Amino acid sequence: MRFPDGFLWGAATASYQIEGSPLADGAGPSIWHRFSHTPGNVAEGHTGDIACDHYRRWREDLALMRELGLKAYRFSVSWPRVLPEGKGRVNEKGLGFYERLVEGLGEAGIEPMVTLYHWDLPASLQDKGGWANREVVGWFSDYASLLFRRLGDRVRLWITLNEPWVTAHLGYATGVHAPGMRDIFAAFRAVHHQLLAHAEAVRALKAEGRGEIGITVNLGPQHPASPSEEDVRAAERWNSYLNRLFLDPLFLGEYPGPVLERFGWALPEGWEKDMGRIKEPGDFVGVNYYTRAVVAHDPEDPFLRARQVRQEAPHTEMGWEVYPDGLYEILTWLRERYGGPKMYVTENGAAFPDRLEDEGVEDEARVDYLREHFLRAGRAMEEGVDLKGYMVWSLMDNFEWTFGYTKRFGLVYVDYETQRRVVKESGRWYSKVIASGEV
Ligand code: FCB
Repeated sequence: MRFPDGFLWGAATASYQIEGSPLADGAGPSIWHRFSHTPGNVAEGHTGDIACDHYRRWREDLALMRELGLKAYRFSVSWPRVLPEGKGRVNEKGLGFYERLVEGLGEAGIEPMVTLYHWDLPASLQDKGGWANREVVGWFSDYASLLFRRLGDRVRLWITLNEPWVTAHLGYATGVHAPGMRDIFAAFRAVHHQLLAHAEAVRALKAEGRGEIGITVNLGPQHPASPSEEDVRAAERWNSYLNRLFLDPLFLGEYPGPVLERFGWALPEGWEKDMGRIKEPGDFVGVNYYTRAVVAHDPEDPFLRARQVRQEAPHTEMGWEVYPDGLYEILTWLRERYGGPKMYVTENGAAFPDRLEDEGVEDEARVDYLREHFLRAGRAMEEGVDLKGYMVWSLMDNFEWTFGYTKRFGLVYVDYETQRRVVKESGRWYSKVIASGEV
């Protein structure tokens, strides 16, 4: 299968997962810094203190991107590096890091795709309630405007928020991610305020009159475990909670019905009045796709009275079913439901138990995973999905949130003892795909 010339093949990372040196040069702590330093939150007590040491080794990493022939690189800016208190005083040294990175990418002919928020909220804003405080809308759009002004002459592609569903659900409802809260009211405030923050940032970029901006959402088909009405409705509940919670408000100006029925009471008072302002999707949708879920009705489940049923199928090391058709399904669903927006796959990839041997890292399972997903994306494009690019997660092995360094997603292997990077088989294979445009 041939992909169009100009298709943006790239790889993705996120600040807290790769940078290390979280407090260097005047940066403020983030909620992930606090969370990972709290005993019991992350596997083996791992933290992002060193990570891939990318903050210091970024030139070497840029050389790797060149070697792979990437057309684009998606990375995120650490908000507290740039604004140590989250607002007000600018830390020029922190901002300078991203200015140099963007300049280096430009010289290498690699298009930067900049995510403004990939989960590392400044800790001092969390002390004021974080995403649960409506003032975050202003804090975020001020931060976004600062970056638009300072990097906007060299950055064309912007992403406001990475996976806002994960921020709200895992961060505020189940407490598995930072800031570790279990409060459904806070969670739905975090949903609503992220929507407003996204919309304000889109308007701020439009006011600058340049660039393109979108949101990145994690999506996956929710299939009923049986044709029974109960299971079908359980799958619909999950679909509206996971897939429609952010896209329906942004494109259609309304929250999904099943979510309002179940959790409408948890939204901040007067939410209805904001829906007009929220209806602002931006220029494209970023899609993070990893797997699907097969869902059965379960009266015991406190959240959506639904549980996931494990399938007899290959799974990745995360325990996620390998299900490439789901990418095709999600992209075509998005096109039909929301009027054919421009899209990027902003994350797709897999963790497998890689081993570094003399010959390198033979990760055929990852090659197969990527090939099958690329083909489904291509098929969706043949049917009219306006897909402009594809960012593999991840450029290199990194800090996988609560799993610490125990899961490897990289095209490049990182030996954490020595910080040596080794391009995996999948990385070499991907280079050829990029060079030929053929899968
Ligand atoms: C996504 C995150 C990304 C990475 C992958 C595996 O949910 O956006 O940072 O951890 O999962």
